[in-house]
Amino acid sequence: MNISNIPVIAIDGPSASGKGTVAQLVSENLGFQYLDSGSLYRLVALKAIRIGADLNDEKALENIAQILDVTFTGRKIQLGGEEVADLIRQEVYGNGASKVAAHPGLREALLDRQRAFRKDPGLVADGRDMCSVVFPDATLKIFLTATPEVRAERRYKQLMEKGEGVNINKILKDIEARDKRDSIRIVAPLKQSKDSNLVDTTLLNVTEVVNKILKQYSEISIKSI
Ligand code: DC
Repeated sequence: MNISNIPVIAIDGPSASGKGTVAQLVSENLGFQYLDSGSLYRLVALKAIRIGADLNDEKALENIAQILDVTFTGRKIQLGGEEVADLIRQEVYGNGASKVAAHPGLREALLDRQRAFRKDPGLVADGRDMCSVVFPDATLKIFLTATPEVRAERRYKQLMEKGEGVNINKILKDIEARDKRDSIRIVAPLKQSKDSNLVDTTLLNVTEVVNKILKQYSEISIKSI
């Protein structure tokens, strides 16, 4: 089968917009593969921090990406045999990911790994440049967002549930700093691509967002028959 015939739903948006939860549920509903592209940047940050590499050393980051021994199985992520899915969600790796993601060489080194997730019967991919760079020919493109305050509140609840002591004002500041860093970088900055549909989740719950995206996808699928 020609790979370009395999459907892709590309979902971009800022941190804590709910992309991950929504993308995962959409993929489960359709029986599609799922790519959480942010986890790749988080894994590179984790590895770099562990080996004491400088997060500004582009060559070192490229090397880490090239030999990254990672396996994704459902919701599990194994790095060199160690389960790290929960660990990489920590803020320290999210902030590290945002820093390493500014390097064009690293982004290039992660491209093929991301595209390899495009397998039958389809893929739902979330990140910052899924619509613009990684899957420019995606079947459906979504830009998912919410106000920084609502995103901070959601992240706060998530972290509290995990028993992590956090301060909501600090989370809001981190989110705003991350939005800024992700938006002003030269390569693949966070921004809505012209051909994507804006979904503002500020006043919607997860089920409403998932249903909205499934509806848009089924309308496209019907049209293309
Ligand atoms: O989606 P996330 O919070 O797990 O992403 C962590 C960081 O990785 C985010 O701040 C920016 C970066 N990222 C990126 O630059 N491009 C992507 N496709 C996904 C994430």
